[in-house]
Amino acid sequence: MTAFRIGSPIDRREFLRHGGRSAGAIALGGGALLQGCGSNPTLPEPETRPTLRTPRDIDAAGALLAAGAAELDLGSHASRAWGYNGALPGPTLRARVGDHVQISVLNQLSENTTVHWHGLVVPTAMDGHPADAVPPAGSYVYEYPVVQRAAMNWYHPHPHGRTGQQVWRGLAGALIVADPAAERGLPAGDREIPLLLRDGLLDDSGQLEYRRRDSGMVGDFPLINGVPYPAITLAPALYRLRVLNAANARVFRLGMSNASRMTLIGNDGGLLERSMDVNAIELGPGERVDVLVDLSGEATGSRISLRCLRARWDLLEVYVSGERDQGWGAPSAFAPIPRLPVSPGARRREFRFEGHRRINGLEYHMDRIDFRVPRGDTEIWGLESSGGAPHPVHVHGASFQVLSRSGGRAQVFPWEQGWKDTVLLEDDERVEVAIRFDAYAGVYLLHCHKLEHEDAGMMLNFEVT
Ligand code: C2O
Ligand code: CU
Repeated sequence: MTAFRIGSPIDRREFLRHGGRSAGAIALGGGALLQGCGSNPTLPEPETRPTLRTPRDIDAAGALLAAGAAELDLGSHASRAWGYNGALPGPTLRARVGDHVQISVLNQLSENTTVHWHGLVVPTAMDGHPADAVPPAGSYVYEYPVVQRAAMNWYHPHPHGRTGQQVWRGLAGALIVADPAAERGLPAGDREIPLLLRDGLLDDSGQLEYRRRDSGMVGDFPLINGVPYPAITLAPALYRLRVLNAANARVFRLGMSNASRMTLIGNDGGLLERSMDVNAIELGPGERVDVLVDLSGEATGSRISLRCLRARWDLLEVYVSGERDQGWGAPSAFAPIPRLPVSPGARRREFRFEGHRRINGLEYHMDRIDFRVPRGDTEIWGLESSGGAPHPVHVHGASFQVLSRSGGRAQVFPWEQGWKDTVLLEDDERVEVAIRFDAYAGVYLLHCHKLEHEDAGMMLNFEVT
């Protein structure tokens, strides 16, 4: 096992001194929990944290998802929201490698929607492309074989110009592909916990508010699996956390409060070749990581938290209690990941993500094909940021391998090894990836996953031929 550290851990006192809790907040009339300064009330960390919820599991082989109204429980009160089957996040869809998935989506909203299966390689007509809009009261059956590795993927709307709004209101859920042979020895059942991270913002009356901002919609309190500032009681044992950044625009920097390391085992495209200890993980919108957290050495009664070291939020507080389970030898090596064969003459393409709405000078047009890619060829794509970062760049139709990052942070991070479908570009960075479209011909998307950038036009259509 190799170790990797960025920055240095901060202790709890230090953390609080720098604003881990919203200090000096002013109580507004009405909800005791709604506090803040200025006109925008925020939701402070409560004295007693609510219990983390885990979305219900449903089998993706014959699932029904209704996109419609839902309620967000904020402790002191509820907010109107949207959800799948009345829940936000929606149910966790479960499938196995090789399964045939069939999901019927019912649109109970008063606007068009589609569902995109982020991370899954599916035929064009099943990809949730904005051109395949499902009108209000309409339905669509998404059906496809699961052709890639075990991984945590997710689903969310992808309608033309309305993705940010729909995801922010609550339409998102996890889709976890399992492979029992490849995942043997890893914590499972209630030792495997999906964590969908996002932020929220409330209006004056305490309702979840969406404001379309060019720079990206960010909120001022965390929601983990739809619960603000949750807590969970876990045994002194080993846990597997499946973490997704489902925020519209916020980048999370994950770390543990007690400086105990997280063991990184996987990312967007599944398990890495070997595990690696890290003390921080930077996760842009759309990215996922798979980490092991070992609580077996923790005293009963101790409190640990999973933090965002950027926002200085305690995202999830963990109370350690229950039966100790020490002898867990989780595997530290997994299947080898073959490198895409990059020949010296490989075709190269360059994409500049400019400001808030353009790629290579172009704004998205739903009916325009911006470039064509021959199926089966390994290509090198250069992804470059030119103002307006962070830009989490996402490609539909294939996963890619990150080759290098120059400028800015100037390195490829441990969570960027193996297979990725989303990679974070900070200002002045250039990332090179190797990519090959094997599975299907058809029209797919390349876009910024800061959803306000996507909606403003930072997206291209390309056709695999
Ligand atoms: Cu997660 Cu094109 O989207
Ligand atoms: Cu962007």
